[in-house]
Amino acid sequence: MDLPFHPFSEIILQWYSQNKRVLPWRNNKNPYSVWLSEIILQQTRIEQGLSYYLKFLEAFPKVEDLANADEDLVMSLWQGLGYYSRARNLHAAAKMVVNDFKGNFPDSYDDLRKLPGVGPYTASAIASISFQLPHAVVDGNVYRLLSRYFNISTPIDSGAGVRQFFELANELIPHSKPGDFNQAMMDFGSLVCKPANPKCVNCPLNAGCLGLKSKQVDMLPIKRGKTKVSKRYFVYLILKDDNLNTLVRKRGPKDIWEGLFEFPLIELQTEEEFNHFQDSLDYQEFISHQKADLLKIHKPVKHVLSHRHLFVVFAELACRKVKSFSSYEPKKYENLSKIGMPRVITRFLENE
Ligand code: ADE
Repeated sequence: MDLPFHPFSEIILQWYSQNKRVLPWRNNKNPYSVWLSEIILQQTRIEQGLSYYLKFLEAFPKVEDLANADEDLVMSLWQGLGYYSRARNLHAAAKMVVNDFKGNFPDSYDDLRKLPGVGPYTASAIASISFQLPHAVVDGNVYRLLSRYFNISTPIDSGAGVRQFFELANELIPHSKPGDFNQAMMDFGSLVCKPANPKCVNCPLNAGCLGLKSKQVDMLPIKRGKTKVSKRYFVYLILKDDNLNTLVRKRGPKDIWEGLFEFPLIELQTEEEFNHFQDSLDYQEFISHQKADLLKIHKPVKHVLSHRHLFVVFAELACRKVKSFSSYEPKKYENLSKIGMPRVITRFLENE
């Protein structure tokens, strides 16, 4: 039996019962589909993640289907979502469920954590939604909501802050409705207690909100330091020969876009070098090796990743016959749509 809930928990569950978002993974609480939705929603907005969730469930209705799938198919279905290590972990985790857990999804927090790509947040979400276990999820929504309601100014990116919010969320979670509570916190944080322009006037929690009382809502949560954004400068060489072959390679580990294909890349270190990439030795070596002519340099595009700003230029080149070069191999231009490429490249190709 649950003791009476904290008024905060009572109100937020009541709000959720009337205002929850209608989402496909909320109808089907089996751990495979909940896990799939949670992995897709890591670092992805719901509106964007929805079609991917439906596409993956259609392609792989059961965890065995995903485990047995070809890696390139998994990567190409993931294309456009970014953070591609999530797709590789998804595939590896499905194999682990089949091989190490006999096809039964792990049903405890500790076993869920053994799956690649399942951290504390995702393990808590699955444990609470699919198995009614009282593990609180603590994401950006939860930090914001709790720091405001309880007027807590401990920085959320400090060890002390992480511990404090974790303990508080786990005290508040009702043991009889852990999944609803966690999802209520997510929805409430996105729809009412929003980062900017929170809806305090009509908020059902406003009477007890200590941050509101002390006029601190706009200042909370407190963050100690912002992550520095670094810049990278990429020039992609799109070579076409008389038989409409081009050159591509698969990107390797330890950098962005592992496992996706890309055109020959020249990476420059400074904006100055980027603006004059034709002077670089790498570019000149490429041109003379392929006996290529430059046809067109497109306007640079800026592509924003989580901690990086990429500046990307596409240059079109022509030659008689492409030659393998370093790790780049010839590929028919018309077949590019069948391989996984980074979003910044596919967007360029779509607009051609
Ligand atoms: N974001 C991540 N998981 C979610 C869920 N289960 N419901 C709503 N938003 C989410």
